[in-house]
Amino acid sequence: MASSNIKKVGLLTGGGDSSAINDYIRTIVILLEKQQIKVRGIQRSYKGLIEDDFMDLTCKFVNGIQHTGGTCVKTSRTNPYKVEGAVQKIIKNVEKENLDALICVGGNDTLGVALKLAKEGIKVVGVPQTIDNDILETDHCIGFHSAVENIVKCTNMTMTSAYSHEREMFVEVMGRDSGFLALNSALVLGADSLLIPEFPADLDKLADLIQRKRKAGKKHGLYIIAEGVQIQGGKQIQDEIDAFGHIKFAGISYAIAEIIHSKIDVKPNVVVLGYTQRGGTPCPYDAYLSTVFARGTFNNLMEGKFGYMVAVINEKPKNVLIADAVKDIRLVSKQDYDFAVSLGDVW
Ligand code: F6P
Repeated sequence: MASSNIKKVGLLTGGGDSSAINDYIRTIVILLEKQQIKVRGIQRSYKGLIEDDFMDLTCKFVNGIQHTGGTCVKTSRTNPYKVEGAVQKIIKNVEKENLDALICVGGNDTLGVALKLAKEGIKVVGVPQTIDNDILETDHCIGFHSAVENIVKCTNMTMTSAYSHEREMFVEVMGRDSGFLALNSALVLGADSLLIPEFPADLDKLADLIQRKRKAGKKHGLYIIAEGVQIQGGKQIQDEIDAFGHIKFAGISYAIAEIIHSKIDVKPNVVVLGYTQRGGTPCPYDAYLSTVFARGTFNNLMEGKFGYMVAVINEKPKNVLIADAVKDIRLVSKQDYDFAVSLGDVW
């Protein structure tokens, strides 16, 4: 492969962490070091780029980091476009460090900033990483499959108690704007129903389903609730807002359980899975996909292709314009949602 003029690149990871990022970092560092290209890890996402906080990423350093979860260069939700003078500092630090290109790994916010930096003249390669799997133009995002596996494992552990005590379990999963985590895990778990941000929650219908099933003899159930689902009068238990203007969600299921209790004489138990979803060892498929994303990144750097996000389509890397990937959020279709709901509506 013909080598471009790239001699040194910076790598950052932004937004929420997930399980297979270090697998990606290990692979891209190995590929680049073999071409004598230096990799500087940028600590805490754009924060490190503003504050000149770099570290060396070498084959020696990344040895064994695969399967460790989280991100070895740390992360943050820093938005340089909300900090005065930050963009100028970034441009200065990129020059000072002699970085020929930046690899920006993250979700819509991280990639959105990468796009703006590309417009400032910085050479960027984007890589989708979010457990929400809500990025357009790619089949997968790093972290999603591991999060589904974590949800499935943790939820299964709650179901023995649900069965023994004849309880209805409301398991709350992440997914701020889109319900892919809820959809995939509900299908895998055989959930009785699910609520996701894309569609209004009909709590009368949900109460009726629970009651119907209990009367028919099924006295325990599983309902997967995405944290971002909207209900009338519902209140999140947290109200922090991040630098990209997103509310920190968690806890809507408690309000939903109260409403269901007021409608029927059953009080569902709530389990908020929280950060267990994003943690721990990646599942093998996620770790494998990370190597595909790394191959795509490497090809772009070698061929001098910038301003693209490496997507994975049919397990092969594919370049899509970052601008196209971040122009909206990928959402669950009505058809897929109805399919999952209908599978639970038996008895
Ligand atoms: O962006 C992924 C995500 O895991 C969302 O599903 C969730 O709402 C958010 O991150 C939580 O963010 P934080 O780590 O800031 O609590």
